[in-house]
Amino acid sequence: MAYNLLKGKTGIIFGALDEKSIAWKVAERAHEEGARFALSNTLSAQRFGQIDELAEKCGSIVIPADATSIKDIEEVFSKSMEFLGGKVDFVLHSIGMSMNVRKKRVYNDLDYNFFHKTLDISAVSFHKMLQVANKLDAINDWGSVVALSYIAAQRTLYAYNDMADAKSLLESIARSFGYIYGREKKIRVNTISQSPTMTTAGSGVRVMGGLMDFTDRMSPLGNADALECANFCITLFSDLTRKITMQNIYHDGGFSNMGMSQKAMAMYNKSFNCDCTDEEDE
Ligand SMILES: NC(=O)c1ccc[n+]([C@@H]2O[C@H](COP(=O)([O-])OP(=O)(O)OC[C@H]3O[C@@H](n4cnc5c(N)ncnc54)[C@H](O)[C@@H]3O)[C@@H](O)[C@H]2O)c1
Repeated sequence: MAYNLLKGKTGIIFGALDEKSIAWKVAERAHEEGARFALSNTLSAQRFGQIDELAEKCGSIVIPADATSIKDIEEVFSKSMEFLGGKVDFVLHSIGMSMNVRKKRVYNDLDYNFFHKTLDISAVSFHKMLQVANKLDAINDWGSVVALSYIAAQRTLYAYNDMADAKSLLESIARSFGYIYGREKKIRVNTISQSPTMTTAGSGVRVMGGLMDFTDRMSPLGNADALECANFCITLFSDLTRKITMQNIYHDGGFSNMGMSQKAMAMYNKSFNCDCTDEEDE
């Protein structure tokens, strides 16, 4: 169902690779809600993914960019403003990558070149986007910038590796830049801490199947999927959330406030051959 929440608004969406991507769902929902926007991803993602199809469907354009390159980011903002006819109202940073995860280097045996890349691609790129946007004065007053994070920024989750450090940095950048951008231009900067989601990046985590089962059992509302995350992004881009800034907001079905749930305990009870009833488990 569409509510016209973004009618007349324009934006830039970074990170749509294929139809599983969170950014893909955000683009589809933003289109349904009346927004016009430009899409960006790396040249290789454009070649090997399906972003061109998405652009066609949404009346958008694709501006290739490596999010670690300031020059590329400057080009994305200036070409987007040219295409959209002026400043934008929202920006989505939906970018993450760890070569250590890809190459199966564990956290106590990191390759430090890879580690720098993880931080640059997954976190520092967010600062670069904000700094470029600010210098080019590319975002309208009361605009909204959102990046996607994960609870491994606060709590240790087995196998999330150096992406945990990247997410901590990402969330810190949202707070620090959010203060300056809010003070000077009334622009909101937030991160959404999303449930584990089966996307290309998500499935790179070694234990994703088990992790998703665990978090689903632990969350009273169950895991949030990519479309639900997109819906939440739309509300943060809309005018209905104008006083929310510098926040990391959990979109995780309640997982972040749980310690142990009945459904998770049932799994342990099984392995200890305990025939506890539901009442005893509560
Ligand atoms: N999938 C999950 O479980 C989950 C949970 C919480 C947060 N997130 C975050 O959501 C965001 C989107 O990930 P996703 O799950 O939709 O997976 P995805 O693989 O669809 O998206 C990741 C995107 O990052 C892009 N990217 C990688 N390197 C880049 C670079 N140098 N320059 C520009 N773009 C680059 C990829 O091309 C891809 O489009 C990421 O920040 C991810 O960490 C994902």
